[in-house]
Amino acid sequence: MISKQLFHNPVMVSECLHFLSPEPGKTYLDCTLGGGGHSLAILEATAGKALVIGLDMDPEAVSYSRERLSQFEGSVILKEANFIRAGEILKTLNVNAVDGLLCDLGVSSWQLEKEERGFSFQKEGPLDMRMNPKAGFTAADILNSWREDEILAVLKKGEVPLALRIAREIVRFRTKKSFHTTQDLVNFLRELRLPFRRTMHPATLVFQALRIAVNRELENLSILLSSLPDLLKPKGRAVFIAYHSLEDRLIKTAFRTFEQNGTFSVLTKKVVRPSEGEIAQNPRSRSARLRAAERR
Ligand SMILES: C[S@@+](CC[C@H](N)C(=O)[O-])C[C@H]1O[C@@H](n2cnc3c(N)ncnc32)[C@H](O)[C@@H]1O
Repeated sequence: MISKQLFHNPVMVSECLHFLSPEPGKTYLDCTLGGGGHSLAILEATAGKALVIGLDMDPEAVSYSRERLSQFEGSVILKEANFIRAGEILKTLNVNAVDGLLCDLGVSSWQLEKEERGFSFQKEGPLDMRMNPKAGFTAADILNSWREDEILAVLKKGEVPLALRIAREIVRFRTKKSFHTTQDLVNFLRELRLPFRRTMHPATLVFQALRIAVNRELENLSILLSSLPDLLKPKGRAVFIAYHSLEDRLIKTAFRTFEQNGTFSVLTKKVVRPSEGEIAQNPRSRSARLRAAERR
């Protein structure tokens, strides 16, 4: 059993509860279950009398949360699945639409901390980065076998400075040696001596760009956003927490379009950030940006 502290510290829980305002008898979809912290908060707020459907494409998150939420058996349905399948999953459960939907994007602390998952440039591990380790391609696959223009597109999408030079050097490097581990990539970047900002490790944006590509994070988010009108009941609420501007921009734009076409009212006129107290207590929350909207 993984320790609860270690798995993940849920971010902006009281703000999520404020916007979702969960009630007994209602149904909530947690698209990114992780360590089950937000799902647990919804269940506790409703004394276990709401139904929570939790999805995660990481099997370790689902098995951990299954155990953590076991006291609420009967009020929880957990599935190992990509949230782009949310509509199809609700149909198999005979749920037409939900009263609240939460999507807390990004990676969990558990995924970041486990060196064998390869998410962190601060830990030695294989260059994997798949949230679902049973499917898809790894970060090493991208670096070792994708064409230069495809690698360039990955870096550009992740807004990595000097993307062209890095893509070119990756292709040159691999004629001599393959990328296998996180430290192969960190050392490669160090040797390039790129003039990155002092406050940011040069590997930060490159690792993030690879992770986004490996997990198709922006594509998945766009699909989920476009299916929101079908997933939520009238008056149903959606809460999204993003951790980088690429995701936040997609959410903001989708919400604005929904408001213009009259399907949703945006509840957060300005993005909501974690309190200073929360950031001090959980530094990983510092980049969180929350937006909420209500189905008309
Ligand atoms: C920040 S964590 C969520 C933490 C969670 N709210 C908690 O309280 O512990 C994000 C989780 O979303 C999952 N995830 C990311 N994209 C996903 C997708 N497209 N479908 C399903 N799960 C996804 C990741 O595997 C990770 O476990």
